[in-house]
Amino acid sequence: MMSLKTVLVTGAAGQLGKLLRESLRGKVRALRLSDIAVMDPANEGEELWPCDLTDVDGVRQMMVGVDCVVHLGASLNVDDWNETLQVNIAGTYNIFEAAKRAGVGRIVYASSHHAVGMYPVDEPLDQNVPLRPDSLYGLSKCFGENTARYFWDKFGLEAVCLRIGSTRSKPTEPRELSTWLSEPDFQALVYACLSAKAVEFSVVYGVSNNSDSWWNNTHATHLNYVPRDNAAHYQAEIESLVASGKSVGHYALQGGKRADYGMVVLQNEPSNS
Ligand SMILES: NC(=O)c1ccc[n+]([C@@H]2O[C@H](COP(=O)([O-])OP(=O)(O)OC[C@H]3O[C@@H](n4cnc5c(N)ncnc54)[C@H](O)[C@@H]3O)[C@@H](O)[C@H]2O)c1
Repeated sequence: MMSLKTVLVTGAAGQLGKLLRESLRGKVRALRLSDIAVMDPANEGEELWPCDLTDVDGVRQMMVGVDCVVHLGASLNVDDWNETLQVNIAGTYNIFEAAKRAGVGRIVYASSHHAVGMYPVDEPLDQNVPLRPDSLYGLSKCFGENTARYFWDKFGLEAVCLRIGSTRSKPTEPRELSTWLSEPDFQALVYACLSAKAVEFSVVYGVSNNSDSWWNNTHATHLNYVPRDNAAHYQAEIESLVASGKSVGHYALQGGKRADYGMVVLQNEPSNS
């Protein structure tokens, strides 16, 4: 089992960071929590480490003494190139490079299904499909996955890239019948990544046990991840939200709204012949 002495969580003030903070409490010897946003005061066993991911020296100092990293910190902006470049691309590189220098064993990287969001919704995907990013955000997640691959192949830094679906307390639109990752399943998945004996370089979909899932995780037997929740449980509720106009209908592409954002639909050129 991977040593869980000191775990650094970036993006700790965010939606998923808060969930992880709650679930890792008491399971690791020390939890180092980092963000640029204000975090709740530290509990016993926690250490707050404010840091901007774009600050190379700050990230290097933060990494000293860390055994594993859960890298959640990111900009979720769909198409702001400068922010995506600074935070998601340079910031993620800073995390991997600092981890290598500090001798960190493993990084759990919060990728996203938006790295493959341009696939149509009727196409089942496994971990080996070519990347098809649906936005600058999705493109930055492709960079993160390739960074993880590079640091494993070249420097032996283990990484699991989690192509996270949609984490919320319950699914609220039809596409989430496929993409939903319940909060307890997210917490269990990250713990499985941290505690697995070996992960080398792995890509795993962050998804619950949904009847309508598009994603195949059958290769991930090296992780003890057994998702408990199924979005189908909420199907009737979602259908009534759609019927009452409170939820959107169906999307053609797996990335949903982000895939549709700004898309130019190419028309066939009229033939001259
Ligand atoms: N929530 C989901 O359903 C979902 C789905 C797919 C992928 N993800 C990924 O999971 C991770 C966490 O998502 P979330 O929903 O908690 O997002 P969030 O926006 O709630 O949290 C991201 C955190 O990153 C921090 N951050 C931003 N810029 C920073 C910087 N320069 N330096 C340090 N910290 C910075 C923010 O302050 C924020 O607290 C992200 O990488 C996201 O892309 C989430």
